[in-house]
Amino acid sequence: MIMTEILSKNKIEINNLNLFYGRFQAIKSVNMPVQQNLITALIGPSGCGKSTLLRSLNRMNDLIHGVKITGEVLLDGTDIYNSGMEVTELRTRVGMVFQRPNPFPLSIYDNVVYGLKVAGVRNKKTLEEVVEKSLKGAWLWDQVKDKLNHSALELPLDQQQRLVIARLLAIKPEVILMDEPCSALDPIATMKIEELMIELKENYTIVIVTHNMQQASRVSDYTGYMLLGEMIEFNDTRTIFTRPSQKLTEEYISGKYG
Ligand SMILES: Nc1ncnc2c1ncn2[C@@H]1O[C@H](COP(=O)(O)OP(=O)(O)OP(=O)(O)O)[C@@H](O)[C@H]1O
Ligand SMILES: [Mg+2]
Repeated sequence: MIMTEILSKNKIEINNLNLFYGRFQAIKSVNMPVQQNLITALIGPSGCGKSTLLRSLNRMNDLIHGVKITGEVLLDGTDIYNSGMEVTELRTRVGMVFQRPNPFPLSIYDNVVYGLKVAGVRNKKTLEEVVEKSLKGAWLWDQVKDKLNHSALELPLDQQQRLVIARLLAIKPEVILMDEPCSALDPIATMKIEELMIELKENYTIVIVTHNMQQASRVSDYTGYMLLGEMIEFNDTRTIFTRPSQKLTEEYISGKYG
């Protein structure tokens, strides 16, 4: 017990977060920890604010006109909103994977090295090493190593999603946010991404939004159940799915609505 307390560390702490789209409040006084090297899942019915909360962890909502945010999101103890932290630095540390894989219309190689090139890395050997390591890390190396100069868009969807993950790994993020990363994939490809996530958590902290409760219960260590912008219940995943403390959570996980 003492061991796990020492080992577990909050990589992110969301404190009393409120988010408004104009006059509509999409996030209501949400508090949630995100523990380092674990997978935290956000579940809840459509429109409850899962994606909004996820996007607030790397300031993706800032791009939306009329958004107002109060409260804190601490990354390693530093508020990402009120500390003068550069958004570009933040997005390097906290990367995101979306529902539809979004590789750039470039070669597989150029997709993986994109972030490094933007950062000015030109050394060919360094880039090649990063490509191999990142593709291996995303379990894609064997499938693409002989066609690195092919267009990324030629890859099947599940490999595109793993390429997007490799592109992230190349810039060495600390946290990976995933918004329904498997919703465009078939069950076998989904299983592969789930297995990959479990491997990735050894080195990264992961937050995943999913509609799929089986997925949340399979991959995550902690789960937050949201409803209408509120965090109804947050706990270790087993507790949420076996003996939730809130009636609303129980109704949702037993499939009464959502
Ligand atoms: N750009 C936006 N402008 C205005 N309202 C928005 C915007 N994006 C989301 N909303 C609203 O905020 C609420 C939360 O949306 P959000 O997309 O975060 O929910 P979600 O839980 O991810 O839903 P889903 O499961 O359908 O993806 C919804 O009522 C939505 O209509
Ligand atoms: Mg969403």
